[in-house]
Amino acid sequence: MKPTVSIGIIGGGLMGREIASAFARWCALTDVPVTPRLAVVADLNPAALEWFKELPDAPKLVTDYKELLADPAVEVVYVAVPHHLHEKLYCDVLAAGKDLLAEKPFGIDLAAARRIEAAVRASGRFVRCSSEFPFLPGALRAFDYLKENRLGMPLHAVFGFHHSSDLDPTKPANWKRQSASCGEIGVLGDLGMHACHLPLRLGWRPTKVMAQLTRGYAERPDGKGGMATCDTWDNALLHTWATVHGHEIPLRLEMKRLAPGATNSWFIEVHGTEGGLRLNTSDWKAFELFERGKEQWWKRTDLGFGVEFKTITGGIFEPGFPDLIQQMWASYLTERAGLLGARFGCATVEEAVATHEIFAAALESQRESKVVAC
Ligand SMILES: NC(=O)c1ccc[n+]([C@@H]2O[C@H](COP(=O)([O-])OP(=O)(O)OC[C@H]3O[C@@H](n4cnc5c(N)ncnc54)[C@H](O)[C@@H]3O)[C@@H](O)[C@H]2O)c1
Repeated sequence: MKPTVSIGIIGGGLMGREIASAFARWCALTDVPVTPRLAVVADLNPAALEWFKELPDAPKLVTDYKELLADPAVEVVYVAVPHHLHEKLYCDVLAAGKDLLAEKPFGIDLAAARRIEAAVRASGRFVRCSSEFPFLPGALRAFDYLKENRLGMPLHAVFGFHHSSDLDPTKPANWKRQSASCGEIGVLGDLGMHACHLPLRLGWRPTKVMAQLTRGYAERPDGKGGMATCDTWDNALLHTWATVHGHEIPLRLEMKRLAPGATNSWFIEVHGTEGGLRLNTSDWKAFELFERGKEQWWKRTDLGFGVEFKTITGGIFEPGFPDLIQQMWASYLTERAGLLGARFGCATVEEAVATHEIFAAALESQRESKVVAC
């Protein structure tokens, strides 16, 4: 039997349930050295806890997260709550002596991110930030390709994430549509880590940014018969500059909650004089490479189930969003056990803070209509 790690989840909403389901089918993974056991789930809404009653681990269900933190059996805590609560809850988890997988963004703004970073350092706990898309087979392939510098002279890079569910004006407002709970950064806090993780891991850190941020509907139904104000940025184009293999190039980060037709499209496109690549999860298995010879070619292959942590699933199949979540947790728990080796690791505290430095510069750029160092 592999050793088990006892986990607590704070926030039993969309992501809390997604993570619990990844643990429940851990038997699909064949080469992870530890097995998570969901011990406690905390959500202040008792109705949100109902779903967890069906789980094989039969976790303890509590409405006060302090009860979860007081449980000595819990070793690792995953927190998935609205953004204005991140700093307080992350710091409480660390003060309770637990390791943490924190949801993005790492606090509601840059100041909060820096205070969380200081608390992590002081605690000595193992902390990472949630970002699952780099565990996609195409993303891992892209990471290796881009690291090796097969581009020739780098020309241009785009990393982005598009949604469209907010196009529907009848969709009720929730905490993600209001700055007080989502943060002034809005869509940047919501989707920004997904776009930034790979360029940051490649060392392609933007040095300056010109931001174009736009809002969508100013009001939405509040779900109680009235209307609620929505004041967050919904779409963000960050035109940045980054040094890639010795060349300063344009690197664009695109995050949109209003992208017609896109359900959950995470994408990369990088061009160089000799090589390049593109992938987009709207065409989930496709991976395209550019080659320049006598003729110029974009060639395409269908990637199968080439994930980092091997599974029972055949190589000809394809992974989905829940598989990426499971792969991210396999990486977190393997790295925590000191056994990650050369495999891809979850977003670090430094990377999470760096995203906030970019977002803060983007807000200033938008406010002042100018290029801002980040
Ligand atoms: N990694 C991803 O792909 C991804 C996707 C969606 C959301 N997220 C992130 O996950 C986090 C949560 O988002 P969500 O969509 O799951 O939200 P959600 O609204 O579906 O769920 C949040 C839950 O937190 C609970 N909650 C609020 N305050 C609490 C408290 N003090 N103690 C305990 N529970 C509390 C709510 O009752 C709710 O059930 C956010 O940081 C969001 O950005 C990540």
